[in-house]
Amino acid sequence: KVMDQLFGMHQLEKQLAKHFGIARCIISAGDSDRQEKVVKNFGESLNESLDVLLPEGKNIIAVMGGTTMAQVAECLTNLESNERHNLFVPARGGIGEALTVQANSVSAMMAMRSNGEHRALYVPEQLSSDTYRSLMKEPSILEVLNLISQANCVIHSIGRALHMAARRKMSEKEILMLKQANAVAESFGYFFDEAGKVVYKVPRIGLQLKNLQTVPLILAVAGGKSKAKAINAYMQNAPKQTWLLTDEAAANEILKGE
Ligand code: F6P
Repeated sequence: KVMDQLFGMHQLEKQLAKHFGIARCIISAGDSDRQEKVVKNFGESLNESLDVLLPEGKNIIAVMGGTTMAQVAECLTNLESNERHNLFVPARGGIGEALTVQANSVSAMMAMRSNGEHRALYVPEQLSSDTYRSLMKEPSILEVLNLISQANCVIHSIGRALHMAARRKMSEKEILMLKQANAVAESFGYFFDEAGKVVYKVPRIGLQLKNLQTVPLILAVAGGKSKAKAINAYMQNAPKQTWLLTDEAAANEILKGE
């Protein structure tokens, strides 16, 4: 019975990876919308994947924020060795999230759990363009931006467009625009329609979507039936080297029509 279940899940993983044309999917049983333990399983899958995928030498791992990222960060265990050292950095400047789920916090937690190092990127949300320009000349900020641009691994989540717009307190004008553009997904501060086309971008420093293409390791962590549409939209145009860590509920919903 257990073997049958494992085999079934393996088939589903293969089918979903093929659906998106990506490297690999790892599917946890259940629905993370309804069962907390499923997010823990994402964390365990992430930990194992990083252990297998991260090469020897110095790795720079750029991470995004969000509640999923904050929870999986807690699940990492030692990823250091004599040959391997990891440095965690936030992927982009603040995009209007609560402190505990900001990329800075996620990166610090991942470093702490995995015995790695981390660097924070301190850029306030609302800045005049003059202040912004002078901040960009700050050596401490430039140093972190430089590290981000050298990242060989990116870990991020995917959210629902309007949910994320509301959570980040975007203006009514922006929300109306997102509705008119049929935005369904959000990741990295970019909004995507159902075909995976970028319809809006929150301008922030750090990693830009076009930089992702050349990052060797990308792990996307998102699940739950409620996110199926968003995951499906974003993953269509996601870089092909992406590994998707998701759950059965999202996978079944995405593949329903096939
Ligand atoms: O804000 C960072 C972020 O990773 C977004 O890019 C993504 O849409 C969102 O968080 C996911 O948040 P949650 O895990 O809370 O659904």
